[in-house]
Amino acid sequence: MHKGKGMKFVGDSRITAERTSKVPKDYSEYPGRTEAFWPNFLLKEWLAGAVFLVGFLCLVLAHPSPLEGMADPTDAAYIPLPDWYFLFLYELLKYQFASGNWIILGILVIPGIGFGALFLAPFLDNGPGRRPRHRPIAVGMMLLGLASVIWLTYTSAAPVDWEERAEQNKPIPPGESIVDESHPGFAAYETSCLSCHGGELEGGAGPALVGGNEHTKEEIMDIAVNGIGSMPADQFQGTDEELEQLADFIIETNEAAAE
Ligand code: HEC
Repeated sequence: MHKGKGMKFVGDSRITAERTSKVPKDYSEYPGRTEAFWPNFLLKEWLAGAVFLVGFLCLVLAHPSPLEGMADPTDAAYIPLPDWYFLFLYELLKYQFASGNWIILGILVIPGIGFGALFLAPFLDNGPGRRPRHRPIAVGMMLLGLASVIWLTYTSAAPVDWEERAEQNKPIPPGESIVDESHPGFAAYETSCLSCHGGELEGGAGPALVGGNEHTKEEIMDIAVNGIGSMPADQFQGTDEELEQLADFIIETNEAAAE
């Protein structure tokens, strides 16, 4: 058989050094059981990759991912979530055995074992068989890992209403702010109320204060000091003059929003 033409770097981690001579036989010595890396194997890989990529592009075009607005450090109601491909790691930390005193297990040991096990791949089922049933340990571990990742991602993502979340945190186009930051009442709003009622009074942990606010100036001043319903009292601490300016600010912002 003619050797030495074309590329023939055929590495096979499942064949131990003792079993073959140091110089592996040319792949053409195994007709039908192996193939040239270039172009045969690479072309197949490339085709599979291209099909996947085009499918993924179509999916993204059909269902564009809802993007959220810029991170807002003043919004205490916002619960940050990792991107979908990290949700399973995030979900893991909700289990008791992987949080609290055991947090090291959750952030280091369990993911470490999971990903570290990949290093075992060359040593598991290293017989010559290539079919899944000839490699039960490797395939079993892979399926177990896959199932856990899918399950954890699902449990984490299912309860979230992603559309609503994106709607609530959608980017505010610049220049559309209704808030007059030079208003004398803005400072008090910013320190005492913004964390719950939002930078644009659009709401957050508390309800929106624009669009349908039916409170008079006196009522707003009263709510700021005494609270209302589930809003705790004593949110506002300052002088009476500042309190009036705060209420004026909310009423005037409402008027600006109504325009
Ligand atoms: C800790 C979060 C929080 C802060 C801080 C806060 N609020 Fe509220 N606010 C709420 C919640 C929650 C409600 C809804 C109360 C209810 O109806 O049960 C509310 C309701 C209101 C309402 C009535 C809204 C409506 O539609 O009936 C007004 C007015 C108001 N807040 C003004 C203020 C002002 C002014 C400040 C700053 C001095 C402030 N809030 C600070 C949580 C907050």
